[in-house]
Amino acid sequence: MLSVRVQGWVCFVVLSLLNFLSIQEALSQAPPTQLPGHNALLMGADWYPEQWPEERWEIDLRMMEAAHLDVTRIAEFAWSRMEPSEGHFDFAWLERAIRQAEKHHIAVVLGTPTAAPPAWLTERYPEVLRVDSNGQRVTHGNRAQGSVTSVKYRELCHRIAEEMAKRFGHDPNVVGWQLDNEYGYGMMSYNDEGRRQFQEWLKGKYKTLDALNAHWTTAYWSQTYDNWDEIPIPVGEHNPGLMLDWQRFVTFAWATYQQNQIDAIRAHAEPRQFITGNLMGYGFAAFDHYVMARPLTFVAWDDYVGAGHLDPDTNGISHDTMRGLKRENIWVIETQPGSVNWSNLNNSLDKGEVRAMAWHGIGHGADEVSYWQWRSALNGQEEIHGTLVGPDGQPVPLLEEVAQTAKEFADLQETFRDTLVVSQVALLNDYDSRWAIDWQKHTEKYDQFAILKSYYHALRKIAQSIDIVSPDVALDQYKLVVAPDLYLIPKDRAEHLAAYLQNGGHLVLGPRSGLKDEFNALLPIRQPGYLAEPLGGQVEQFYALEKAFPVSGSLGDGEVSVWAERLKTTLSDAEVLLRYGRSNGWLDGQAAVLTRRYGRGRITYIGGVLDDKLMQAAAEWMTKSSQVTPVFGSVPDGIEVSRRLGPNGPVFVLINWRAGKQTVTLPGSMKSLLEQKEVTQIELPQYGVAVLSDRAKP
Ligand code: GLA
Repeated sequence: MLSVRVQGWVCFVVLSLLNFLSIQEALSQAPPTQLPGHNALLMGADWYPEQWPEERWEIDLRMMEAAHLDVTRIAEFAWSRMEPSEGHFDFAWLERAIRQAEKHHIAVVLGTPTAAPPAWLTERYPEVLRVDSNGQRVTHGNRAQGSVTSVKYRELCHRIAEEMAKRFGHDPNVVGWQLDNEYGYGMMSYNDEGRRQFQEWLKGKYKTLDALNAHWTTAYWSQTYDNWDEIPIPVGEHNPGLMLDWQRFVTFAWATYQQNQIDAIRAHAEPRQFITGNLMGYGFAAFDHYVMARPLTFVAWDDYVGAGHLDPDTNGISHDTMRGLKRENIWVIETQPGSVNWSNLNNSLDKGEVRAMAWHGIGHGADEVSYWQWRSALNGQEEIHGTLVGPDGQPVPLLEEVAQTAKEFADLQETFRDTLVVSQVALLNDYDSRWAIDWQKHTEKYDQFAILKSYYHALRKIAQSIDIVSPDVALDQYKLVVAPDLYLIPKDRAEHLAAYLQNGGHLVLGPRSGLKDEFNALLPIRQPGYLAEPLGGQVEQFYALEKAFPVSGSLGDGEVSVWAERLKTTLSDAEVLLRYGRSNGWLDGQAAVLTRRYGRGRITYIGGVLDDKLMQAAAEWMTKSSQVTPVFGSVPDGIEVSRRLGPNGPVFVLINWRAGKQTVTLPGSMKSLLEQKEVTQIELPQYGVAVLSDRAKP
């Protein structure tokens, strides 16, 4: 009989091999974002030919081709041009635009126009217009005014998408489809039709009102429902169980709205044509993006900085979250050509920053970057948004930088073929938890994004590559998994995470973890709920803090602020890594951070929001104790490294986001692909980009 130790070792080797094989398998398949017959990296612009006389199209397309752009998204808001009156379709102009683009070697993505219904439609069927939470029906003339739950609207959306697909589903120059536009920002219609569907959805989920009443604890404040028809759409503060289910219904409504168009297109389009949607990064959380992303060929998103300048952590978190939705490469189907028009300060990105932003996207797993938009309409709500071409039809100064970047993409595209971002560290993102915390923040200072970013910043500095994924996916490929504040840990999720620990992973839970179940109800066990047993410890009490308090221990000295939890060990082999100093009396001398070996792995609980220095020390400890290694090697602060891994080895993108020139000594001799020379050291000015390949390193 093999000893337990040997068995454990054999198991570890087998699992490591399986991880290695699954990464190898992923690397051996072409990512769906890289289209057969096209460059592996693409650059494009979103173009609205319906806004311009046809004679102009040729000039625009010639200019796009000269700027090395190879893809354009069109038709996205052109419903009134494609269906000028009900049931009468005119696609001849679109066909001509697609053919002209083809002549200039520009592939076309067709947008379905369902974010902008024509006036005849909303006039004839006013019930398709959304009703806002004040009971007001929105008026025509903006966009996203369709009601996601309107049966009539879905029927009309299906018809236009289907007619488009019948006409262009086999078009050789149409490479794919984008559905709707930003899915109406997840806005809902607060009308009877929507409410009835919500009640039906609840019926499907709970089957009996007794089950619903029990899970929502409706005995509280006399909320008990005797009839499904009584259940309201929550507006403002409401029962947390009802609110979470409403939010899930919002996801269901948009996912089925999306599926309605996918079905219409898929029935007529060749499988080679992809279907995607333009999502909106980490910060937009009106629906559960994991659900929305499931039926898409790949994820595309709209990457805007708005006011100020690109912060590589903030933007990196969005890229990594979007890449994590399907754990696959992405497209940036819209990005900022210098400035936007919708922020409090629509400053331009600096010279060089737009190029750096495009390469930053590639480093984080994008295979396409498109500017919104090519040329602005002469009138309309967005007439002074940034563009690549001015109202006079001549290039704006930025076009030269975009053209240079597009040329670089084209020159280096083969290097990026079949390459993926492969990380040893994952951060967990859970929409249910995010909503639930935000509804009951307990302190207005509790900023989930800031907390996530503090972990991201500290860990990325060390690991140089981070995935952001759902807690419910397979995690065994990661050496370290960090959940900054995973509020909802129902039993099955806890079992899944415990299995990750058993298999040798290191799970780090931040404050507020495991307080609630899947109904947004408090668990009748102390935090972190079902994971308290593996931890060998638990949360005694949580405290919203008025001010920062000292902590110290083997991770160093520093402060916690905003939130602190008093922890206690329940098993003797749980270790205390930090303790609170003199604070509010309740916390004085109590444990702030616990860790314990469990299975072949380790579980750690961090009970407070750590200051930056302490977070860095905690990240050093977490990565060291999990054998996480940097993907590149040491670089000066302000230099961002990203790595993509492919069958020919790694390719690195290095960007200097700091003012002033910085020198980077490379871990060995590498090829600088933008300069086409071997280097051991590089100098990067602010926004400078280096793309390096290292064939020696697998
Ligand atoms: C969004 C939309 C675009 C346009 C841009 C402007 O991303 O998808 O249609 O309005 O914003 O920044």
